[in-house]
Amino acid sequence: MVQPYKHEPFTDFSLEENRQAYLQGLKTVESYLGQDYDLLIGGERISTEEKIVSYNPANNEEVIGRASKANQELAEKAMQAAVEAFKTWRKTKAEVRADVLFKAATIIRRRKHEFSALLTKEAGKPWREADADTAEAIDFLEYYGRQMLALKDGVPVQSRPNEFNRYHYIPLGVGIIISPWNFPLAIMAGTTVAAIVSGNTVLLKPASTTPVVAAKFVEVMEEAGLPKGVLNFVPGSGAEVGDYLVDHKDTRFISFTGSRDVGLRIFERSSKVNPGQIWMKRLIAEMGGKDTIVVDREADLELAAQSIVASAFGFSGQKCSACSRAIVVEDVYDQVLNRVVELTNQLTIGNPTEQGNFMGPVIDSSAYKKIMEYIEIGKQEGKVMTGGEGDDSKGFFIKPTVVADLDPKARIMQEEIFGPVVGFSKAKNFDEALEIANNTEYGLTGAVITTNRAHMEQAREDFHVGNLYFNRGCTGAIVGYQPFGGFNMSGTDSKAGGPDYLLLHMQAKTTSELY
Ligand code: NAD
Ligand code: ALA
Repeated sequence: MVQPYKHEPFTDFSLEENRQAYLQGLKTVESYLGQDYDLLIGGERISTEEKIVSYNPANNEEVIGRASKANQELAEKAMQAAVEAFKTWRKTKAEVRADVLFKAATIIRRRKHEFSALLTKEAGKPWREADADTAEAIDFLEYYGRQMLALKDGVPVQSRPNEFNRYHYIPLGVGIIISPWNFPLAIMAGTTVAAIVSGNTVLLKPASTTPVVAAKFVEVMEEAGLPKGVLNFVPGSGAEVGDYLVDHKDTRFISFTGSRDVGLRIFERSSKVNPGQIWMKRLIAEMGGKDTIVVDREADLELAAQSIVASAFGFSGQKCSACSRAIVVEDVYDQVLNRVVELTNQLTIGNPTEQGNFMGPVIDSSAYKKIMEYIEIGKQEGKVMTGGEGDDSKGFFIKPTVVADLDPKARIMQEEIFGPVVGFSKAKNFDEALEIANNTEYGLTGAVITTNRAHMEQAREDFHVGNLYFNRGCTGAIVGYQPFGGFNMSGTDSKAGGPDYLLLHMQAKTTSELY
């Protein structure tokens, strides 16, 4: 009997035994740094000459691991393995498929701190952020396994006398899973297993900065009993392998999480019907955000400041859900801004392996360069209240930066920076604050800090974001509790961790029998 779903609790690192468990995880990870990881195609491990080298963003001399790199020929081989495996996996009972997910959840739970420590090393995640990423991966496995069990018999439909109608769901086919580096375990694993548990076979192309955690996850799925060819692991260049697989005639669907520009490229390419292709490809695309916290005149201003700081600077602002804009009603603007600056100045930045550091590095040199360029733009467009400096001598560290007095149409207020930078704009009143909040092309998350019930209801109707939060920050959605996904250029609103998510990986079939 499967127990009801409950989300994985976060680790309390104030307890010595938990601290020690994490440090032990770190030792385990350190024991395998620098190893090579193969491709996995049809159950066969393949090593290539060319490697993707993964570095520690906090210490750019430390190699986390070297992943074999697929080219188009190997991508084709993986596609054929997935096509072949689909013939049997699609007929494998839902209970068996779900069971693989439950076993994988158990294995990851057992090795929880090792996985978190690997996220700290490979993605620069501080302890709490890494722990949340691992917990979310476990949640996806547990939640989607149960969702599949709930969907396995379809949905009842009406039948007339002497007629037997059924409505049930079948898988789509081969899916391409393209994942980002910022939730290198949770999103990579969640998007992969949602497709697999629904009866599809997949090719997983992880982000090139975080291939090692993906390789470790693939090992877990093998250990959990996943048959050969269901999950094929093909790290590679987005432009080479990504385009090739997106265009492929045998690709039935693409599950992409990443930036707006790459998402739109995939949207365009996947809409083209190539020779031999007999379907319209389905696209699940979760893209960027420019997420806003609105602060009303009637509000708990300390809560507002704390929510802005936590949402803007958690994991150095490298979350699609991160608060990168604060829109504050003018009567309380100075108070909120000054308190945010005070709290920001108290944040600790440094090597994320040290428990005390709230913020670690940004992911790599190109992210560092891009964020520092935006900070320069911020200096022209507004007033830098704190931060504004970086240090890339050893790792890619950028101070949490607050830019005040911005025009709502300034670039800092419109473009996704994906780093520890938050912009402030003033609004005359709550109506104007909501108008500004809606004035980007994105629509992922948002939060409203207010004690005014009428304003809350107004925001519920008019603040056009996929995930809207009241009196809290705008990050940290929990699987099964706050299904996650955005509107407009934030993607196809495919709510990860929600009750409809698996259906995006399936098609409904009606059968009608007369007797
Ligand atoms: P990215 O778009 O640069 O890369 C994402 C993935 O796409 C990587 O695996 C990359 O190798 C691959 N890719 C690149 N070019 C490709 C191509 N031509 N064809 C196929 N695949 C290609 O994004 P990123 O830097 O890894 O992640 C950060 C972005 O992801 C941010 O914009 C963030 O907001 C977004 N994100 C969104 C969500 C969400 O749920 N909405 C969640 C996490 C991250
Ligand atoms: N699901 C992640 C969050 O809500 C992106 O912050």
